[in-house]
Amino acid sequence: MSETITNAVKGKYGSVAASGLSSDHAGVRAVAEAFGYSPEELASIPAEANMGLSCGNPTATAKLREGETVVDLGSGGGLDVLLAARKVGPSGRAIGVDMTPEMIDLSRRNAEKSGLANVEFHLAPIDRLPLPDASADCVISNCVINLAPDKAAVFREIARVLKPGGRLAVSDIALKCELPPELGNDLMAYVGCIAGAIPIEEYGKGLVEAGFAHVEVIDGGADLNAYAKVENQAGCCPLPGEPSGLPIADSGCCAVGPAAVVDEALHARLADLLRRYDVNDYAAGVKVFAVKPGAIPNRPPAKEPVPVADAAEPVKLLSGGNPQIAKADGDAPVQAYIAAMPGWKSDLGRRLDEIIVRIVPDVRKAVRWNSPFYGVEGQGWFLSFHVLTRYVKVTFFQGLSLHPVPPGGTPKSKDARWIDIYEGDQLDEARMASWVKQAAALPGWIP
Ligand SMILES: C[S@@+](CC[C@H](N)C(=O)[O-])C[C@H]1O[C@@H](n2cnc3c(N)ncnc32)[C@H](O)[C@@H]1O
Repeated sequence: MSETITNAVKGKYGSVAASGLSSDHAGVRAVAEAFGYSPEELASIPAEANMGLSCGNPTATAKLREGETVVDLGSGGGLDVLLAARKVGPSGRAIGVDMTPEMIDLSRRNAEKSGLANVEFHLAPIDRLPLPDASADCVISNCVINLAPDKAAVFREIARVLKPGGRLAVSDIALKCELPPELGNDLMAYVGCIAGAIPIEEYGKGLVEAGFAHVEVIDGGADLNAYAKVENQAGCCPLPGEPSGLPIADSGCCAVGPAAVVDEALHARLADLLRRYDVNDYAAGVKVFAVKPGAIPNRPPAKEPVPVADAAEPVKLLSGGNPQIAKADGDAPVQAYIAAMPGWKSDLGRRLDEIIVRIVPDVRKAVRWNSPFYGVEGQGWFLSFHVLTRYVKVTFFQGLSLHPVPPGGTPKSKDARWIDIYEGDQLDEARMASWVKQAAALPGWIP
């Protein structure tokens, strides 16, 4: 059975690679933008790298840094590898793995067009990665693991190739509830990224069983009918110059490219199923994060130099060791604050900042009253942290509404609640991420 699936997946994506789908088509561009790519990102890589096959943008959440080695599982036309390559820079490496020869050829052509020297592509299945143990800082993947028949083997391989402390940032499809049997047992629905998806809880459990910590599988809330909506605009059989490029609905009643191996009756059946069942009722586009336990790998310095007032002049520490940073908006003053936090507190500040950005990618940042503030545009601030002599105080301005309520607070602190983190405390990243997620969804504090 798994060989039948693998051959069907290879055949389908081989034909997609030969179809000419690209960002030059409005429909394909719209699918990518619906799943989180900016027009600027799409314009920065060869158009043929994007075929509208994604269900998220893992390079936006992976927090890639200069010098890192990143591996993309099921790299398709090279979309995420090429974006990642820019983020890790010439001293880093971006490696794509895909089992479909036509996709590997296409991605190599796209890499050549982009002129990037730090990318490589390997033809291999993602449950047998041709990479050494502990060689990657980050593994990303976009709408692929649902297609793998042996997901436990994929999770084990990811754990093997990651360095201790390395991380996983994946976009994928997972199930919110059981699929109707006629959809769940349909080979075309499998190839179209639906029937191979596993329940959200099973995804998290599988990663824990493979040895990962800080596992999060978050329903990103994307509308999976984004594919179908675009298709409807272009008609069922894509018009020349207006192909749909849809991993789920595909071209509905007709094969995508000249090399399509699946017959039209199968396509027609899937199109009919998708008309009768709303995929959003059963499946979700999920963002998956996990960390391989172990030491945090030596991270290279942040890409942009931290604009501390004057590099020759150290930041002044106020009473309790809190860095004095002038009031300013944006990421740079927050990074300057974090860099100046004394000793172990700086690493904690960086981890807090990473969690917040991961959960709220478009978070608004600023320094106020010598503390970093995090907020949502138009909603005020939801979190701040501050250095004290023996601990770092993380305050949620609507802490009283969080579950569980953070432990710190007094009758005078109104809705605000906090947690004090001391040296040697184990940061409960899952709890912190949950608080951040809840807090960012509440109306924030407007001074
Ligand atoms: C839906 S496409 C996503 C492509 C790419 N990640 C993107 O977002 O543009 C799935 C890709 O994964 C590849 N793929 C599927 N199953 C695979 C497996 N078990 N091993 C390696 N590659 C696989 C396919 O060949 C195809 O290129």
